Amino acid sequence: MNNKVSRIVTCALPYANGELHLGHVASTYLPADIFVKYLKLKGENVIFACGTDDFGTPILIKAEQEGKSPQDYVAYWYKRDKEDFEKLGIVFDIFHRTSSEDSIKLAQYFFKVLREKGYIYKKKVEQYYCNNCNRFLPDRYVKGTCPYCKAENQYSDSCEACGRVIYEGEILEPKCSICGNEPIKKESEHYFFKLSIFGKEIKDWLLKNKNLQNDVKNYVISWIDMGLQDWDITRDISWGVAIENGKVLYGWFENHLCYISSVLKYCEDKNLNGKDVWNSSIIYHFIGKDIIYHHYLFLPAMRLGEGEFKLPDFIPVRGHLLLEGKKISKSRGWYISLREFLEKYYADYLRYYLARIISYSQADANFEWSSFKEVVNSELIENIGNFIYRTLSFIWNKFNGFVPSPENFDNIDNEFLERMKKLPGEIEKYSEALEFEKALKLIVDFSSFCNKYFQEKEPWKGTANTCLYLSANAVALMCNLLYPFIPFSCEKIKEQLNFEKLFWPDLTKNLIISEGHRINKPYPIFSKI
Ligand code: MF3
Ligand code: ZN
Repeated sequence: MNNKVSRIVTCALPYANGELHLGHVASTYLPADIFVKYLKLKGENVIFACGTDDFGTPILIKAEQEGKSPQDYVAYWYKRDKEDFEKLGIVFDIFHRTSSEDSIKLAQYFFKVLREKGYIYKKKVEQYYCNNCNRFLPDRYVKGTCPYCKAENQYSDSCEACGRVIYEGEILEPKCSICGNEPIKKESEHYFFKLSIFGKEIKDWLLKNKNLQNDVKNYVISWIDMGLQDWDITRDISWGVAIENGKVLYGWFENHLCYISSVLKYCEDKNLNGKDVWNSSIIYHFIGKDIIYHHYLFLPAMRLGEGEFKLPDFIPVRGHLLLEGKKISKSRGWYISLREFLEKYYADYLRYYLARIISYSQADANFEWSSFKEVVNSELIENIGNFIYRTLSFIWNKFNGFVPSPENFDNIDNEFLERMKKLPGEIEKYSEALEFEKALKLIVDFSSFCNKYFQEKEPWKGTANTCLYLSANAVALMCNLLYPFIPFSCEKIKEQLNFEKLFWPDLTKNLIISEGHRINKPYPIFSKI
């Protein structure tokens, strides 16, 4: 392995204002983590970066409601998120934050450069202002009635009831969300980013890039063809990246720059030239489908405008997770928090189930308790877990823990061997294509084959050597291949197999375990739900 960083993988930054839930995990963090674990097993140098999205109106409002300073408020969620990710086995190389000094500096730098290049201009706009609170009221500071479906008590930027985006000034019967008074309109000078002039360049990039999902690409292009509007990138609030005249940057102007700042920070700590690393790596930004607009338009436009940091190669988009067929909604209480889930169930069960049901597409997946139980019990435990335990305990009991020497190979032994040799390459193909659910399905099918093999060979009747030699190797193979999906369990299997470390297997020359290898005392690693 050389020291050159070859890939950078990032995940959408969670807002530092509430609990991570299964929806976040399914669409973004788990797929990215599976991918990174796979790459690292293969010995690639990868930087896996994430962090909290700390600024913006909703966070300031929540901090105020709880009587906390926004700094303390986001520090709390930073710590919580970090712990939750660790409990799920999601391991970032750097977990940064948009409110760190270096992230703020980078955002200010982008603002400065884009302005100098003429991509940012000032314009007077009318904004809601509360005379009682003496402040401007952007986005969520105003509540009112949705102009489309007439639902009451909606934020002025979007309606939770009908899902529509509400534009500035459209909300009916506006009220200050802090004191309830009716706001007035007041003039304020804002900065605008000339998104409109980047349409053609972004479209060219989209058309050229073969790694992006076609359906996503097509509708981003349809937005571009309809004409892009310049974008108001400042807010009159106190919590954000400060620029001038008491203004701060709008969250979506600065948050994604933390992908870059976190990589620069990581590289600085390792004495690497961060900018070179950035520009020479293959870059992936994993996201959920609700933030396509921001990642396919704002982000590339800003990078193209600034000019020194390359655009992403992949922006893998996945659909939402439904809960028992219904859309997750935090405000309506229809969600399962990651923390609570992990207090009741083993992290690998969640990883396994979600990895099986989410696909590399915008299609929504559906979390159902009954299927969670069924899939984990029948596939992970009865199929995979059973094969591993029966193999290892047979070796432990009948061969004193030593893997036997193989004897003659019959047809089914040869078939088994061939399947084993082919499997890593097939998994690699799917993993590179980011189709982890297909990779996992292959391993499940392989395990079914293993169980059938064991059953047919009937090693308890006498001729057991070849069967157990091959089966031990199949266990070793699965342990490595399954690691990206169920890392906690594979660490335990690794101990039972008496392995120093896991690695990406290449079976073209040798199998993984040779005869005479001694295993440790096995025990069942799963228990049924
Ligand atoms: N916090 C945003 C959300 O949850 C995602 C930000 S991703 C970023 O929707 F990279 F753009 F920061
Ligand atoms: Zn008010």
